Amino acid sequence: MTVSEIRQKYLEFFHARGHVVVPSVSLVPQNDPTTLFTGSGMQPMLPYFLGTPHPLGTRITDSQKAFRSQDIEEVGDNRHTTFFEMLGNWSFGDYFKDEQIPWMFQFLTQELKLDVSKLYISCYKGNDELGIPRDTHSAGLWQGLFGEYGLETKIGEDPERDGMRTGERIFYYGDKKNWWSRAGAPQNMPEGEPGGPDTEMFYDFGTPHDVQFGAVCHVNCDCGRFVEIGNNVFMEYVKKGAKFEKLPKPNVDFGGGLERLAAAVLGKGDVFLIDTMQVLIIELAAVSGKQYDNAQYQKSFRIVADHARAATFMLGDGVIPGNTDQGYVLRRLIRRAIRHLDTLGVGEGTLIKLSERVIAAYKDQYHELDAAHVGIQDALREEEQQFRKTLLVGMKEFEKVAARGGTIEAPAIFNLYTTYGFPIEMTEELAKERGLQISSGATVARLVQEHQEKSRSGAAQKFAGGLADHAEQTIRYHTAHHLLLKALQMVLGPEVHQRGSNITSERLRIDFSSPGKMTKEQIAEVEKIVNTKIAESIDVIRTDMKKDEAEKLGAEHEFGATYPDTVSIYSVGPLNSPFSIEFCGGPHVKNTKELGEGGKKFIIKKEEAVAAGIRRIKAVLE
Ligand code: SER
Repeated sequence: MTVSEIRQKYLEFFHARGHVVVPSVSLVPQNDPTTLFTGSGMQPMLPYFLGTPHPLGTRITDSQKAFRSQDIEEVGDNRHTTFFEMLGNWSFGDYFKDEQIPWMFQFLTQELKLDVSKLYISCYKGNDELGIPRDTHSAGLWQGLFGEYGLETKIGEDPERDGMRTGERIFYYGDKKNWWSRAGAPQNMPEGEPGGPDTEMFYDFGTPHDVQFGAVCHVNCDCGRFVEIGNNVFMEYVKKGAKFEKLPKPNVDFGGGLERLAAAVLGKGDVFLIDTMQVLIIELAAVSGKQYDNAQYQKSFRIVADHARAATFMLGDGVIPGNTDQGYVLRRLIRRAIRHLDTLGVGEGTLIKLSERVIAAYKDQYHELDAAHVGIQDALREEEQQFRKTLLVGMKEFEKVAARGGTIEAPAIFNLYTTYGFPIEMTEELAKERGLQISSGATVARLVQEHQEKSRSGAAQKFAGGLADHAEQTIRYHTAHHLLLKALQMVLGPEVHQRGSNITSERLRIDFSSPGKMTKEQIAEVEKIVNTKIAESIDVIRTDMKKDEAEKLGAEHEFGATYPDTVSIYSVGPLNSPFSIEFCGGPHVKNTKELGEGGKKFIIKKEEAVAAGIRRIKAVLE
């Protein structure tokens, strides 16, 4: 069974159970300043858990493009990838555990024909302090299903301490493992965030345990023997103060990594062996003359394959390599891939070849890849050339350090890493070649860890701040963003379209296609139009309608996005004579006058180039 066939089977299975199949949204969240990338299928669904009706009903399914940058350092093992496809099905206040668990069991055992004896389950242990009970209902349902296969299915607890006893197949874990919210464990959730207990499914690949990961092996052990292939979240709580309240209706949020499911179907504990990844590995083996099975090179094979795929998808969604936000992550992926291509002894141009394989493998499902084909290749070429120049500068710095002889100390290694983009393993390799000692890996690792922790806690703050305290201001900026795009089209021409956006509670940012720098007069004119529309107190209206109807109305699209048949549209002003009209999931203010509350005015703070033909504006309400 190929990746495409598994994806198809899943969507058909849930379609047959009353779900509407929707296309994936962009990897770059459009109206969510709390995160750089779409990291799970549920992210675009958040409003619907909290009660907003979904335009297509209460049962939805899809295969969502997802990217988790926190996994970059993990790539190289048998199961981590930064980019992945997440199969998802949702119940918005419709069915619950009694349907979801048997369906999943049926899908895994009958549709995918996985070996039942290799399936393991985890359930939520409960937390008395928070008043959330143990999920005995889910555990009981699973027990019954395994029982039908005549399999002994005992329920264990704390296997991380006691190990897995004979006959145990279902295990209770606590807040860290079997509770799901965007912020993680219940204790980390900000006010107003929804979450709930989950029950996860694991596949046993039977590899030997590695004591490096703990004395005993268990389903959540990191040694790679058990791989999580899916997660049913029963999203029925919302955080209120330090406690939890029930949401008006309970929801189901299933997410399953397609790559891992495909590996389980293949019966091989390595996601790089599935067909869509194998084409990349085979290409790499051909151009490098090296073997994937060679332990010396396997990690580089995996890193290059993962990063090339992720970079291709990002470029397909309009991300531009740069020094901040999404662009920075993309740049890091491309650079790291190039470094590992060097390890494999492969020269310039291979990334482009790999991206072609990615596009060929995925374009039937993700049409945007084909549409952006030429742009993806140009960007990869340009970025590779630029990085090779940087490497030359970095090499000069390395030579200076090396000329001092003796041991290369941790701060110098760290400086090469942060200032010159020199990966640490590269400095290590170079030092070895020159017969130089290098400072203990531990010290460098600590510096790097501190560096990463700083950036992570930055991200965590962004999360808490964006979501909890400043939601209203962010919503105002979101509406201002719509006004701005329309004003830009009026002043610069109708060919102006949005190419990226980022909204926080402090400002809005828009990237748009436009040939040249704006004049002072044009900037002033755009500001005037937006401020006039704020002063006119216009209603902002949401309408759900058929996609082709919305297109006929000339509603603005997001670059490269594919939309479901029924979409929601936001218009500033009535639908028959709107000032602005866009495909958009919201949220927005009710009336433009809210943007001007407290005498605030719309002001453009900055207008600059980000790439050929793409300009960026930062604007505020002050
Ligand atoms: N939100 C859950 C996850 O990402 C299930 O979709 O694992």
